[in-house]
Amino acid sequence: CSMAVIGAPFSQGQKRKGVEYGPAAIREAGVMKRLSNLGCGLKDFGDLSFTPVPKEDLYNNLIANRRSVGLTNQERSEVVSRAVSGGYSCVTVAGDHSLAIGTISGHARHCPDLIWVNTHADINAPLTTSSGCLHGQPVSFLLRELQDKVPQLPGFSWIKPCISSPSLVYIGLKEMDPPEHFILKNYDIQYFSIRDIDRLGIQKVMEQTFNLLIGKRQRPSHLSFDIDVFDPTLAPATGTPVVGGLSMCITEEIHNTELLSALDLVEVNPQLAASDEEAKATAGLAVDVIASIFGTREGGHNVYDQLP
Ligand code: ARG
Repeated sequence: CSMAVIGAPFSQGQKRKGVEYGPAAIREAGVMKRLSNLGCGLKDFGDLSFTPVPKEDLYNNLIANRRSVGLTNQERSEVVSRAVSGGYSCVTVAGDHSLAIGTISGHARHCPDLIWVNTHADINAPLTTSSGCLHGQPVSFLLRELQDKVPQLPGFSWIKPCISSPSLVYIGLKEMDPPEHFILKNYDIQYFSIRDIDRLGIQKVMEQTFNLLIGKRQRPSHLSFDIDVFDPTLAPATGTPVVGGLSMCITEEIHNTELLSALDLVEVNPQLAASDEEAKATAGLAVDVIASIFGTREGGHNVYDQLP
């Protein structure tokens, strides 16, 4: 196996300072070492820089940084596309979740299914957002079925909507804005909230997820994973925390499919931690997620495999 790691220290999809330091915190927490324990070829693309964009006015009096988010994602999509075409499984550590526009677009030439693991559905359209933050909207630009409802933003014209609703599953939702709920229902998009997971158990949820996606055909999947899906006691250093949380079992279920070809790990914001320990715990958890999705446990063994 060969893996590529891409750092994307980007924060302009939301308003809180510090999420641009997420990649550095995840690197410091040892992501490269944990991945190299896998015995895979490892290519580090480093932390990518961004072409600066002059100060922008608000779109619709609300949406900030659209050119900057658009251009950054266009650049990101090229890098991810190159990595995936080169045969790498691609791990992007960001940054805020607006970055997924680029990583998924880059991966989309290879037609993946999309699994969105997040407290939030991030499917607001530019006309439904109440925060104006583009990290709450990435899926709306990517979903084919929604395009007649999504105005063209400056900087976004390169995007080709590449996901269709039967190839999208949400896991771990805790909070949806009313328009997002409407979109999910109206377009019949499959989702499992944290409540569903508590009721059904994560194994059943993953079974149903993979029946929906992989059941139809074996094709690569893209996992976009927001650290805020964990309870804030486990992952306090993030911009939009909501009580309630997922268990780590999900990573093993995903690992077992062996179909993941790209992963985004987003929204680690070390500056929002109340202490150094909190910042380290959140970044450490991000590393655990990445490593266990691609198959490592401490010492390189899956402890569960060794139990009778
Ligand atoms: N729904 C809210 C919004 O549209 C919050 C989105 C937060 N997203 C995230 N990936 N943390 O602004």
